[in-house]
Amino acid sequence: MDRVPVAVVGASGYTGAELLRLLLSHPQVVIAGLYGRRAAGERLAAVFPQFAGRLDLPIEAFSADEVARRAQVAFCALPHGESSPIVRDLYTRGLTVLDLSADLRLRDPATYETWYGRAADPLAQQAAYGLPELAGHPLRGQRLFAVPGCYPTAALLVLAPLVRAGLVEPAGLIVDAKSGVSGAGRAPTAGTHFSEVGEGVHAYQVAAAHRHTPEIEQELGASSVVFTPHLVPMSRGILATCYAQPTDPERPGAAYREALAQFYRERPLVTVVDAPPDTAHVRGSNRAHVFAALDPRARRVIAMCALDNLGKGAAGQAVQCMNLALGFPETAGLDAVGMFP
Ligand SMILES: NC(=O)c1ccc[n+]([C@@H]2O[C@H](COP(=O)([O-])OP(=O)(O)OC[C@H]3O[C@@H](n4cnc5c(N)ncnc54)[C@H](OP(=O)(O)O)[C@@H]3O)[C@@H](O)[C@H]2O)c1
Repeated sequence: MDRVPVAVVGASGYTGAELLRLLLSHPQVVIAGLYGRRAAGERLAAVFPQFAGRLDLPIEAFSADEVARRAQVAFCALPHGESSPIVRDLYTRGLTVLDLSADLRLRDPATYETWYGRAADPLAQQAAYGLPELAGHPLRGQRLFAVPGCYPTAALLVLAPLVRAGLVEPAGLIVDAKSGVSGAGRAPTAGTHFSEVGEGVHAYQVAAAHRHTPEIEQELGASSVVFTPHLVPMSRGILATCYAQPTDPERPGAAYREALAQFYRERPLVTVVDAPPDTAHVRGSNRAHVFAALDPRARRVIAMCALDNLGKGAAGQAVQCMNLALGFPETAGLDAVGMFP
């Protein structure tokens, strides 16, 4: 079978680089074009030396006609706000498009406007929310994906099975999550400067301020989720620790892990682990490790998920969506286990 030509728009960013790393080892695609803005005109290896000797392509200025001429699939790894006009240009030209930004994730336009301060793109109504394990319907043939945020992926993978099974209340959920610094993208800021984040851990966008909150609520059918993100001094990884009220406080603790195991029994990329998960075990992979326990004294379920924000939290998940959309094996190009130690 001929390989499917794919393009990466935003190839000079962190999720773009992770897409290229995964797509280079994918048995059914060929990388046909790289696009960026400031980096346009440079060779990829000048921007990301890890590709030296492996992928010798120039990064070019974006042109929808040119992408459509070369590729059947486009990954858009662009900042929110910049992304949806480019996604629209490519989608209307017949490509399968995977949007890694937040532009198309929220289905309710008013919610989008409240959280992002700009009009929602009506294209969001046509996009599938790209979290395959929770989709509940086949993704084959789907041409437009809103690939979820990294924090929502972590929170949803462990909470949604418990909420859907009626084991925990959808009200009063708390998501306390820690992320590595690559979650903020490659553009340097004071907030991602090594000397300012290298030795400490801090919360940010506290008290209903982080834009991933409505995404978590949308997919859980919940309201008033308390979501507190933290920045930790590591380059990759997310650990989400979630607190939920059991619907039956007398239910034995093992029931929560069993429910997760049952939910993910045929899903190759999510594993229920027996001990609290560690971001170090999923680093560089498209795997998520989930875990749940009951604190019988406090009558709270503690549900945890570890993943790589650039992998299952972004680029790997986008490749997984492409695989399902095009009828490839779900794990094609995504077989790697975490880089540990
Ligand atoms: N980082 C994560 O862990 C993560 C996880 C999930 C989702 N996401 C989402 O994924 C998207 C990309 O994130 P990132 O971390 O990869 O960001 P990033 O490192 O800042 O990269 C952004 C990329 O977009 C390019 N770009 C910006 N405007 C463009 C335009 N008009 N035309 C062509 N290229 C343009 C930049 O090109 P130049 O540098 O050449 O200007 C760069 O390649 C964001 O929406 C982010 O929220 C990120």
